[in-house]
Parts: sequence; structure tokens; C-alpha cells
Amino acid sequence: MVDQPIGVIDSGVGGLTVARELMRQLPREELIYLGDTLRCPYGPRPEQEVIQFTKELVNFLMRKKIKMLVIACNTATAFTLELLQKELPIPVIGVIQPGARAAIKSTQNLHIGVIGTEGTINSQAYPYALQNINEEIHVNALACPRFVPMVEQGILDGEEAYQVVSETLIPMKESNHIDTLILGCTHYPLLREVIQEVIGDKVTIISSGEETAREVSTILEYQQKLYNGDRKPEHKLYTTGKLAVFENIANTWLDQPVAEIANISLTV
Ligand code: DGL
Repeated sequence: MVDQPIGVIDSGVGGLTVARELMRQLPREELIYLGDTLRCPYGPRPEQEVIQFTKELVNFLMRKKIKMLVIACNTATAFTLELLQKELPIPVIGVIQPGARAAIKSTQNLHIGVIGTEGTINSQAYPYALQNINEEIHVNALACPRFVPMVEQGILDGEEAYQVVSETLIPMKESNHIDTLILGCTHYPLLREVIQEVIGDKVTIISSGEETAREVSTILEYQQKLYNGDRKPEHKLYTTGKLAVFENIANTWLDQPVAEIANISLTV
């Protein structure tokens, strides 16, 4: 059991930001990552479709005998976390609760901003998670539908990125209250520097990857499922979309080589 891999899913490449943190914090654990790049983005899709697609990703990873599932996608977490926690015989963790907990730790004035896809923002999953911990928290939530397509095109800085981010964040800046901003989408850490520049250095940015990896470690340790031997892990990355694009992004974003990167089809 302890030497089985940790499964990580996302609608595309954004979850690699969480995978990178897992590799950093748990260097002996093996990961299997599946990104549904073919059907990305999930953000604008109806809830039932996101549930259906996410279940297909999970079925693929369950056949690979994972010991834990990380839903490294905010949209999929918002719509499927509770369902999968009930249905699967392994621990399941999403990225919303860890991000919410980190933001609560950080805020001084109890005004927290959240940016994410339309699906995540409309689901109210962040206000629910935050106010469930502290009902006095004020949440300023904003959907940023232009960010994911920009990141998928590899535009992470420069004039265009700055312009899109500053135009989109106008309502968040105008409210002028928040001292903490949650990046409620796994693609957004790739725009972190631009977002920080636009929102100003008085606002602390929370990206849930780090906190999620910490919680994975705590859960595995508590359940005595942490790998305790000595090995060089062989990570495997799969995409439903174009291999060359995925491979290029994975090689750029991850700090270490992986054992296998392949394209898979979920219908066979
Ligand atoms: N991974 C998604 C999320 O964190 C963003 C991309 C998408 O819309 O599918 O919400």
C-alpha cells in the first residue's frame, strides 16, 4: 500500500503547479498525474458535465491503484469533492479547503478576495469554506474567465498579461478592502507575479498548492501510508490532449524529469 502512487487530476496543465509542490514536499512519493487538456477548460461547463468528466479521470487513476486522490482543480473540487469522498475507498483531497485555511491564517482584517473560474465562483465553494471556519470573514469573489486561455497559450508575463490582469481585477482593486487574495484556480499561480504587481504588495497572495501538499502529507502520515523506503520515484504524467504541448509545459514547470509522459484516451 505505502508504495502505491498518489493520483493527481486536473482539467489540464494547471494542476502541475500542485504536482510540483507535492514533488517538493514529498520527494519519495510517486505521482500519477492526469490532465484533461482535450476538454479544458472545465470552468465554463455545467456542473453535471464537470462531474461526468471528473469521474472519468478518477476511473482511469483508480485502475492504476492509487493510494490517495488529489483533485488539483478548483472547478472539479467545487463540484465533486464531497461525492468522491463518499464514493472512493481512498482518501480524497481537493484544493479549496487547504486554500481557505491558509487564507484564514493570513488575513488580519478578515477581508479575503477569491479569484477563479466562473464555475468555481458561481458554486460559492470558497465563501462556504471560509465562512464555515469563521463566519465573520468578508469574501470578495471574482470570476476571471480570460486568465485560463491566456495561461494555456503560455502568456504568463509581459504587456498583454499585465493588461488582461489589470482590466479583470478592477472590481477587486476598487473595493480596496482585501488584505489576502486566494488564487482559486490552479492556472493562476503561473500569473502570480503579474497578479501581485496589479493588486499591490499589501495584499498577501495564497496559492493552494503548497497548503494542499502539506495536507496530503499530514493525511498520509496519519493513515500510515507515507512511503518509508528509499527510492527515486518514477512519476507518470498523462494527458488527453496534444502530447507535445503538454510535454513542453510539464518540462518547463516541473523541477525534475519524469519517467513517462503519454497521451491517453478515456473512451477506450
Ligand atoms: N483547473 C481549473 C481550476 O482550477 C482551471 C481551468 C479550467 O477552467 O478547467 O478551476
